[in-house]
Amino acid sequence: MNSGDIKAWVELQTHAESLGVVHLKDLFRQSGDRFDELSVRANGFLLDFSKQRITGETLDKLVALANQQELELWIEKLFTGEQVNGSECRPALHTALRSPRNDSVQLEGRDVIDDVHQSLVKMERLVEQIQQAQWRGFDGRPIKSVVNIGVGGSNLGPLMVCEALEQYTSLPLRRLDVHFVSSMDGSGLEKILPTLDPATTLFIISSKTFSTIDTLANANTAREWLLKASGMPIDTINRHHFIAATGNPEAALKWGVAEENQLLFWDWVGGRYSLWSVIGLPVALKIGMGGFRELLKGAHMMDMHFREASFDENLPVLLGLVGVWNINFLNIHAHAILPYDGRLAQFPSFLEQLEMESNGKSINRDGERLKYRTCPVLWGEVGSNAQHAFYQMLHQGTEPVMCDFISAAKRYEKDGDELQQQHKLSLANCLAQSRLLALGDDEGVSKYQHYDGNQPSTTIMFDELTPETLGGLIALYEHKVFVQSVIWEINPFDQWGVEKGKKVASSLLVELGALSDKSLDASTQGLINYVQSHSKERV
Ligand code: F6P
Repeated sequence: MNSGDIKAWVELQTHAESLGVVHLKDLFRQSGDRFDELSVRANGFLLDFSKQRITGETLDKLVALANQQELELWIEKLFTGEQVNGSECRPALHTALRSPRNDSVQLEGRDVIDDVHQSLVKMERLVEQIQQAQWRGFDGRPIKSVVNIGVGGSNLGPLMVCEALEQYTSLPLRRLDVHFVSSMDGSGLEKILPTLDPATTLFIISSKTFSTIDTLANANTAREWLLKASGMPIDTINRHHFIAATGNPEAALKWGVAEENQLLFWDWVGGRYSLWSVIGLPVALKIGMGGFRELLKGAHMMDMHFREASFDENLPVLLGLVGVWNINFLNIHAHAILPYDGRLAQFPSFLEQLEMESNGKSINRDGERLKYRTCPVLWGEVGSNAQHAFYQMLHQGTEPVMCDFISAAKRYEKDGDELQQQHKLSLANCLAQSRLLALGDDEGVSKYQHYDGNQPSTTIMFDELTPETLGGLIALYEHKVFVQSVIWEINPFDQWGVEKGKKVASSLLVELGALSDKSLDASTQGLINYVQSHSKERV
């Protein structure tokens, strides 16, 4: 089936032709109840779609499209462990990672919920050992610093959550500092190693495959640093200073991490969906296992809502469908993520991987080339900082951009008036900017001061940022991505587009060190020559 041909799709095209020319300010003039009609509340979240270029009729037609694409059936397939990742013949069961103990999901004769909870128990034991100063470094002193080495899903999720929930680090946990290192060029280690005491530093090698060269290069550098500083045998260093969070225990063992220092997860957890697994270890070390379980609980509540709520009240379904409307019917192919909360500074980066690695596809599940657009270019920044960077383009550029404004309603309740005032200031900016983007402004004296408006946005609000609400927010976007993949008939759980790049780089590594006798393209050869001429002394 091709989405481009089906009835609901064609009806939406016709509907878009009539509505596409209407300005948001006219839609607001036409109905005073627009906010009530087009905002949805559930699970402690409010999603305001009234600044989208839609009407109630648009939503009805989008829901019809979801029904024609059998979204309900696909949601059940996702939750029950069917092979929704067709090209890799796997289920995608990240929802099982946050299911309560009494749930059951059968996979090849095993209840995966049992496995999940056993791994949580092992993780908890390890967290307690480290937090209670029972895990010792090579000279017998307790661990004080933890460095997560990982990239992509093995970095972005835990990094984002650790930053967002910093305030939930209770006093006894503060004696641990948690760092993240990801870039393959060694910049992270170069910066951080001089500030750390080798004897009290523990490294987590986070890698689903345990074969990612970026991560292994950093892990090797870290181990060399420890060996040199300690003068200890490699076995002692491996045992006292490395933990692996991985889906590949054999490779971890071969590298030197013994079974007792391994935390495992499964091939049915996609890298960018792995935050909820043992990849979340840095989060548990930072905010405690209780906090980590709250995060899981928030995500599970969103899972239940996604699975049970009717589509016209279903937050991830509506968020996904409105995105499809903008992309496929209003031809908007840029998406800005704008949290008005400095704690969510890493959220746009996290979503870049979640959305673009999942849905950046042009071939459908049956291997046919698509005739319609899929994932837009997505980027973002803390909203108030972005106002001083790229909002000029949002307000007066030539590019239509859809925006997500995200903010907690309350913050700093126990802190001083000044900070509460700053939160109000931030909220006022959030509301003012989405309003101006939607309605425009023609009060300016010159044409340079004119704001066209009509840039659509969704505002996502929740009571306060807690482990539970953050879990819900992340799951909201995970399911939104799934909804869009079902409409577009693509597999959101593979990432073949990044595999080739890894192989190409390995072969060029050899070329960089020696004179090439292979015929490369002129540009690559020219750049290799440049590098070689600047590093001759060292080659
Ligand atoms: O190269 C992309 C990717 O495979 C992501 O999907 C993944 O999150 C990241 O690399 C890291 O992979 P790993 O956890 O196996 O090291």
